[in-house]
Amino acid sequence: MSEPVKQRNYTPLVIILSIAINVIVAVLFFMPKYNGDVSFNIYILPRFNAIFNSFTFVFLLAALFFILRKNIKMHRRFIFAAFTTTFLFLLFYVTYHFLAPTTHYGGGSPWRGIYFFILVTHVFLAALIVPLALITVTRGLNMKVEKHKKIARWTMPLWLYVSLTGVIVYLMISPYYPGQ
Ligand code: HEM
Repeated sequence: MSEPVKQRNYTPLVIILSIAINVIVAVLFFMPKYNGDVSFNIYILPRFNAIFNSFTFVFLLAALFFILRKNIKMHRRFIFAAFTTTFLFLLFYVTYHFLAPTTHYGGGSPWRGIYFFILVTHVFLAALIVPLALITVTRGLNMKVEKHKKIARWTMPLWLYVSLTGVIVYLMISPYYPGQ
């Protein structure tokens, strides 16, 4: 018999993190950009972000692969790996958007429409994924298995979509970065 899991109340943490992360990202979007000197090529940061997003996508697929085989230990490990790359992504994302002016997509039709469709769904679902992932992981940690499964069936595909479209958006916009 496995030991019962100690139940923790993560709700305040989930609420605080969900609000804080979304508010920081929104404020950055509207804030005037830093215009002092930066001693490195800031356009390296979104490239790192695309790499982090690709890793998140692969880690999530691995977590899914293992849970479908009922391997909870490996499921948990890959979920933590996905949270780590997502955290690194956030760190680099915030730094980049603090430093860089907005890059405008320079492609013509029909790519322009495709780009904006992917971008808008990516941004909207990325905001939603913050509380969803946190609620899902806390239900997992507390081993509330049925409730966890119920929400995870939304979180997993949406998080996969957000991480993959993060890479696609980068690949589409990167030719339009200054100096490319
Ligand atoms: C955001 C984080 C997580 C996501 C997206 C996620 C995703 C999933 C998915 C898609 C399933 C399969 C649902 C189904 O059968 O339809 C599942 C099941 C499960 N997950 Fe997670 N998971 C997460 C975190 C965790 C954590 C941290 C644990 C802790 C050990 C955990 C433990 C489990 C367990 C015990 C099951 C049920 C396995 C079974 O059917 O026997 N999950 N999860």
